[in-house]
Amino acid sequence: QSGAFTYDPGFTSTASCKSDITFIDGDKGVLLYRGYPIDQLAENGNFLETCHLLLYGELPNKQEYLQFRNRVTYHTMIHEQMNKFFSGFRRDAHPMAVMVGTVGALAAFYHDSIDINDPVQRDLAAIRMIAKMPTIAATAFKYSIGQPFIYPNNQLDYASNFLYMMFAVPCEEYKVNPVLSRAMDRIFVLHADHEQNASTSTVRLAGSSGANPFACIAAGIACLWGPAHGGANEAALKMLMEIGTVDRIPEFIKRAKDKNDNFRLSGFGHRVYKNYDPRARVMQKTCKEVLDIVGVKNDPLLQVALELERIALEDEYFVEKKLYPNIDFYSGITLKALGFPTSMFTVLFAVARTVGWIAQWKEMIADPEQKIGRPRQLYIGEPQRDYVPLDLRP
Ligand code: SDX
Repeated sequence: QSGAFTYDPGFTSTASCKSDITFIDGDKGVLLYRGYPIDQLAENGNFLETCHLLLYGELPNKQEYLQFRNRVTYHTMIHEQMNKFFSGFRRDAHPMAVMVGTVGALAAFYHDSIDINDPVQRDLAAIRMIAKMPTIAATAFKYSIGQPFIYPNNQLDYASNFLYMMFAVPCEEYKVNPVLSRAMDRIFVLHADHEQNASTSTVRLAGSSGANPFACIAAGIACLWGPAHGGANEAALKMLMEIGTVDRIPEFIKRAKDKNDNFRLSGFGHRVYKNYDPRARVMQKTCKEVLDIVGVKNDPLLQVALELERIALEDEYFVEKKLYPNIDFYSGITLKALGFPTSMFTVLFAVARTVGWIAQWKEMIADPEQKIGRPRQLYIGEPQRDYVPLDLRP
């Protein structure tokens, strides 16, 4: 019995860490942030209150919410000299590479003296990280298209501010569409945390040595980029575009089943979910709402995605292997409809996941029993043998 759930001793002994932040039941398709179901938080709450929940364990009351929102709002700017880092990249550099470099630079730039043993400094590092990621992400995008950087606007809420920094230009008025901003906010909530996924485990492992938290987040961004992880949203949209029409779906299902060139359906399957990813349901609903708002009727990509899901969920291969759509399956279509280029999809995942990474980092550093991570291996190499001088070797 550990907290609200009981685990078998075998699981307890092999778990990499204890955490009270997020709970997943992969067989039942359940995801709870501090006990709250993800669909309730995504449908009824907002991203900043979810950040408060993940960081401090409770949903904020009105006063706590306003205080937290102000703290984040007043840390959204990045140091003016940070902007010089962007000009060191090629314009066509992948924004995830730019994110790894610039977020890592936060550690070198002006937070290299964080005393991580001081809870106040740990908390400030978390606020700064959550606040600055949208600014860094939007600046990376602006740099890639050669447009002027847009400073954060403190009058806007978190998601609206991000859309503003992404799509506004100095020469004309930019009005954030509140409905699209609500959809963006909901997408952030869906991606905020997910227990010990690969990138969160990377942040924990890096942080377990006492490394600077910004450098640890940069490591998490690097891990998230992979197509088997956060990079799947970009890969899933490219796959849907390659399929193009519903009549070509059987060809791709066959490719996945035959494992041609190790092809897998991007946005399908999961290390933990052996049932429908609860986030994918909310994402599908959000996708339809956004397409409706932007006036895209019968989006061919959505038609392909819905039909691919229908066929796969009835196919014995996918049923037997318990392969269901995951969060990345519908997110690409949604983000494309919101106006983001595919290269920014995983960046958005990183912006949202920053709160999960930093909340888990804080939890680990605050644990007096935590030690440096040291994954064990099963040695399958040569038994001990003696050195043979070069000229005696066959
Ligand atoms: C994320 O961990 C997290 O929480 C991650 C995440 C988060 O919020 O942080 O949820 C975000 O990363 C979601 C996953 C995004 N990735 C993809 O959509 C990429 C496509 N999916 C696969 O690569 C795969 O499903 C994984 C990597 C996600 C999970 O792999 P598993 O659980 O290790 O499954 P596996 O590789 O052991 O596969 C089991 C079987 C294999 O067949 P056999 O070897 O048993 O014959 O299922 C097959 C696989 O070939 N399979 C697939 C498949 N995924 C697994 N076959 C076709 N298409 C797929 N997508």
